[in-house]
Amino acid sequence: MMNANETYEHILDCKGVYKSFGGTHALQDVQLQVKKGEVHALLGENGAGKSTLMKIIIGLQKQDAGEIFFEGKPYNANDPAEAIRAGISMIHQELNPEPYLSIAESIFLKREDTFHHTPFLNKKETNRRAVELLKQYNLNMNPKALMESLTLAQMQMIEILKAVSCNARLVIMDEPTSSLDSEETERLFKTIRNLKEQGVTIIYISHRMEEIFQICDSYSVFRDGHFIGTGKVDQISVNELITMMVGRKVENIFPKVDCPAGDVVFKAEGLCGKGFHDISFEVRAGEIVGFSGLVGSGRSETMRAIFGLDPLTSGKMYLNGKEIKIKSPRSAISKGIAMINEDRKNYGLCLFRSIRENISLPNLPARQKGFLLNQRREKNECRVVAKTLTVKMASIESQAYSLSGGNQQKVVIAKWVMASPKLLILDEPTRGVDVGAKSEIHALMSKFASEGMAIIMVSSELPEVMGMSDRILIYHEGRINGEVMRADILNASVNQETILSKEFGGR
Ligand SMILES: Nc1ncnc2c1ncn2[C@@H]1O[C@H](COP(=O)(O)OP(=O)(O)OP(=O)(O)O)[C@@H](O)[C@H]1O
Ligand SMILES: [Mg+2]
Repeated sequence: MMNANETYEHILDCKGVYKSFGGTHALQDVQLQVKKGEVHALLGENGAGKSTLMKIIIGLQKQDAGEIFFEGKPYNANDPAEAIRAGISMIHQELNPEPYLSIAESIFLKREDTFHHTPFLNKKETNRRAVELLKQYNLNMNPKALMESLTLAQMQMIEILKAVSCNARLVIMDEPTSSLDSEETERLFKTIRNLKEQGVTIIYISHRMEEIFQICDSYSVFRDGHFIGTGKVDQISVNELITMMVGRKVENIFPKVDCPAGDVVFKAEGLCGKGFHDISFEVRAGEIVGFSGLVGSGRSETMRAIFGLDPLTSGKMYLNGKEIKIKSPRSAISKGIAMINEDRKNYGLCLFRSIRENISLPNLPARQKGFLLNQRREKNECRVVAKTLTVKMASIESQAYSLSGGNQQKVVIAKWVMASPKLLILDEPTRGVDVGAKSEIHALMSKFASEGMAIIMVSSELPEVMGMSDRILIYHEGRINGEVMRADILNASVNQETILSKEFGGR
């Protein structure tokens, strides 16, 4: 219901917004209209300009041209604090909490509005209000717990509470579920529905199409910095949406090619380490083995140990039948094991190096046949790989940080493609990657497998694990709690629920 002083049709109305970075036109004459109280999906491929518009709205960037109206009035924020005062908060994908603050302190930190009487936070009062908020959103957390003890999903919840406690009427969520597992995602959706009931409007950015249909009321689509269209979610199909986003039909997001499995390439026997126990499995040439499980179930920890990032406390590993010992990522790479980590910022990419350098770095030994690097060949190969993966970039010499999130991920993948390893470990390979690119990355996985590579894929996205794996190993609390064959999925004797229940420890 609109009351007397809410005479606007849209709580947020962006008109004719332009933004360029050097020669890159990130936004060109873009519009975005959001109704009060709805969950509005903002969709588009990597580099479409979604985050750029959001950064303009919360005052992290300035538009070159264009007007923004919030609650019917001209709106302009010079920094995030100003946006928050006006009633707009953004939940960032990369959270930077203060580790030694309590939940309560973290929610009410820097809140001059509430605590301007003294320079100190009133502990009793903050705790009392935090308890109230946690209760209101059905979150079972201790307000005195330290931020460092929380999972990423919990920190995100605290960010959301912080936003609503600042009286945010518009909350922007930029890929909030990209690091959450299915259970945490469900909890986030409950909170979103709760926010909606309180009249809060939400802009929701995600590359997971199924989520759009679960939680969003309407959508707007951007492509290459242009506004393409808007409408109600219940009046459009997934395929129509994807076509709007990529400008062409994407035939199949999971182009799995079934090929006969060859010899065993990698074998793990009773691996133990921090977070996992007694892990045994084999991966054959041509096989894609999916690892599913809840966040924290020990999948990534196992992979880190195999790749030499963390120590193994016991267990044996074999590559092509020979026992191997891996002490460091360097020794793993030299033996033919490559890993694309979920944390691309820390392990995958040198942000201040060029795309070309990033792609060719791990391959240096391979191409340093003489004393010199064959630079022209290197350049050409990089260009071909970047093109195969359709990395959207100004030039192969651009620095990696200027790429959008999804395009950075493609560069990380490109860099390992060129190293042609025997065993490729992919940990959340398509996190933050748009549907078009997702389907391309999956097609590449299929291609590598059919050429004889053994592939391990850790993914929290059930449709992805189910769509791409020959076999799925299901983790529960550091142990393998079940195995599912592709045939079982194809003949529907196994579905998402079956896998989920095993992730939760069911038999
Ligand atoms: N600081 C910057 N310097 C140079 N170019 C930039 C900068 N920020 C964004 N861009 C460019 O602007 C375009 C839009 O990027 P943006 O991050 O808004 O995309 P996005 O839709 O959020 O993509 P993704 O889904 O991958 O997050 C991209 O081509 C990107 O490379
Ligand atoms: Mg983005």
